[in-house]
Amino acid sequence: MAGNDDLLKKIISHCKEYGFIFPSSEIYDGLSAVYDYGQNGVELKNNIRNYWWKAMVQANENIRGLDTAIFMHPLTWKASGHTDAFNDPLIDNKDSKKRYRADVLIEDHLSKIGEKIEKEVAKARERFGPAFNEAQFRSTNPRVLENQKKKDEISTQFAAAMEQNNLAEVRQIILDCGIVCPVSGSRNWTDVRQFNLMFSTRVGSVSEEAETIYLRPETAQGIFVNFLNVQKTGRMKIPFGIAQTGKAFRNEIVARQFIFRMREFEQMEMQFFVKPGTEMDWYSHWKEKRMKWHHTLGFPAANYRFHDHIKLAHYASAACDIEFSFPFGFKELEGIHSRTDFDLKNHEKFSGKKLQYFDPELNESYVPYVVETSIGLDRMFLAILSAAYREEQMEDNAARVVLNIPPFLSPVKAAILPLLNKDRLPEKGMEIYRSLRLSHNCYYEEKDTIGRRYRRQDAIGTPYCITIDHQTLADDTVTIRERDTMKQERIPVNKVAGIIDERVSIEKVLALL
Ligand code: GAP
Repeated sequence: MAGNDDLLKKIISHCKEYGFIFPSSEIYDGLSAVYDYGQNGVELKNNIRNYWWKAMVQANENIRGLDTAIFMHPLTWKASGHTDAFNDPLIDNKDSKKRYRADVLIEDHLSKIGEKIEKEVAKARERFGPAFNEAQFRSTNPRVLENQKKKDEISTQFAAAMEQNNLAEVRQIILDCGIVCPVSGSRNWTDVRQFNLMFSTRVGSVSEEAETIYLRPETAQGIFVNFLNVQKTGRMKIPFGIAQTGKAFRNEIVARQFIFRMREFEQMEMQFFVKPGTEMDWYSHWKEKRMKWHHTLGFPAANYRFHDHIKLAHYASAACDIEFSFPFGFKELEGIHSRTDFDLKNHEKFSGKKLQYFDPELNESYVPYVVETSIGLDRMFLAILSAAYREEQMEDNAARVVLNIPPFLSPVKAAILPLLNKDRLPEKGMEIYRSLRLSHNCYYEEKDTIGRRYRRQDAIGTPYCITIDHQTLADDTVTIRERDTMKQERIPVNKVAGIIDERVSIEKVLALL
């Protein structure tokens, strides 16, 4: 397993080398925070999306799918609050001309103080051995106490400044903490300004008639504005949900950490419409269901944790993140939010149309409350690669890189590999390949040594390699090699399809949810 510091770098170069992810428009030196998915990346991405879709839409009788447009009427974003409040505080360094998110500069500074504390604790743990009393050390060591006090004071001041939207105070914290620009090393900062994250463009061929419209920053609003369309045409009874996946766009100021924070990304969101008063029960229900969806992938449960929000957005009555242990630490992977009736009520107000549900049991109409689950597909992709990437030493001391991707998600399910490029082995291999390829994404290759071909399949996470040798011609059997154990079994050719079907079955995984 690679060390965490360089794991992200290794994943980035692995993704490029093996056709998972390329920088966008790379021949022009790329475009910051925009990426293209290659031949293996698109398969993995489709499989993740499919796992989500089937788990949310197909496995729940009261959830329906939807696919709404990226462009929406500009008033949508007034109603949702994005036009006025979807902002990040930014600051420029006058010497380097680099732009930063002011809140991120302060958060990074706070993390550094936290790291100093943890280093002190780790040193003491090593010094004192089993007798080490961590709680006592933390509450008495002068250096730890001093750093903790500093951290608490800055955190309190920072939270208050953000809460009051006091941008001058945010700048003052940056100056007081002595935060320098990582590029120029100077403290020559501009004022802090609010920066709206929505991308805008114009519709209409004549500029005077053109109207500013936005690329959606979340897919959720397409669901809200269609709530009654789906409810009526689908004859849905509350509680019910609407799910969709699709592109979203945010002009992120700090775009880094590969596909963790992108300017163009894909979301998978589900809005669950419930009777007012029942939302907290549904919130707990979806928290549990979504965590189970993650755990079912089989990676260590310790990779995931809930982070309950203490400070809530103005529309939320409860909110939490499912955080994942990325190579750069625990970070948000998915959000679960109890959004009250904020969005539907505001769309009623701005559109002048009623967005109410007539409850036949109560014989009255009301605006439903909403519990939302929202996950980034690209972030999920990175989570899977982070958990799956392994560097292993094999018995013959050779090294291999293997992606332990759950087989049902792997880009290629089976590689068909004739041992030699002669003696009718390729023809036999092609026959097996043709019999499998309509059910599963398979790969056929006859060049290179078998060892090299196995290594290449390990590196893209192919769970099964089928090898055709001379014995195949004699008794119609092949070997099937399993990626993680590298064990080989001899099986009849007529059993290959059934074995692959069974071992990469998504239905078996869905049944565990
Ligand atoms: N409708 C609610 C909503 O959009 P969010 O927390 O802003 O909530 C939901 O976003 C999820 O979308 C996040 O948990 C994350 O996985 C993903 N996401 C958000 N911004 C992203 C970005 N710039 N790049 C990649 N994924 C992003």
